Amino acid sequence: MMRILMIAGSLRKGSFNRQLAEKAREMIGDRAEVSILDYHAIPYMNQDIEFPAPEEIERVREEVRNSDGVWIFSPEYNYNIPGVLKNLLDWLSRPLVQGDPERITVMTGKPVTLSGAGGQSGASNARKRLSELMLFMKTKHMEGEETSVALTSDEFASSTLIFTPERIEMLQDQAERFIEFISKNG
Ligand SMILES: Cc1cc2nc3c(=O)[nH]c(=O)nc-3n(C[C@H](O)[C@H](O)[C@H](O)COP(=O)(O)O)c2cc1C
Repeated sequence: MMRILMIAGSLRKGSFNRQLAEKAREMIGDRAEVSILDYHAIPYMNQDIEFPAPEEIERVREEVRNSDGVWIFSPEYNYNIPGVLKNLLDWLSRPLVQGDPERITVMTGKPVTLSGAGGQSGASNARKRLSELMLFMKTKHMEGEETSVALTSDEFASSTLIFTPERIEMLQDQAERFIEFISKNG
């Protein structure tokens, strides 16, 4: 069974990005085993504690290692990748073996796709930076359109993401393409 790990770039319970991830999980249905990564308790990157890696880092790395593909749903904070997500990705970007000349990480060669919900730009600035980071981390970033949700004031007021037909279509298309991409590249 294909395994997809979803990562929300926001830790808050009512996160719109988490709502988007839940919807994508529903769309994937029984075609893959989908889980949403819980990383709220990981420490800040600190090279003093890098080797051996803290228990929580070992756990999240294991979840990434066991997945066939990673789907990141992220807002943008000040036009950038939110700090909590950047911290997680910094940990995931590090070699598993100290001094490894090949710098193999759990993300090396991993199929990845990105989506995001945010203000007017639909978190596209963060996605642009995430995309550069995915290249730098030597993942296999799927090409093509990615789901971008520009939240409305009604949504901010109600804290509920509205799934318009356009958004459903975008997300569905990305889900279908990602499943196919993983089958070919996983
Ligand atoms: C520190 C901070 C910075 C933010 N900066 C931006 C921004 O640059 N662009 C944007 O569209 N929204 C920005 N927002 C608003 C977020 O898009 C909004 O809070 C969104 O709901 C966060 O995603 P979540 O619902 O998944 O937690 C910012 C929010 C915070 C807390």
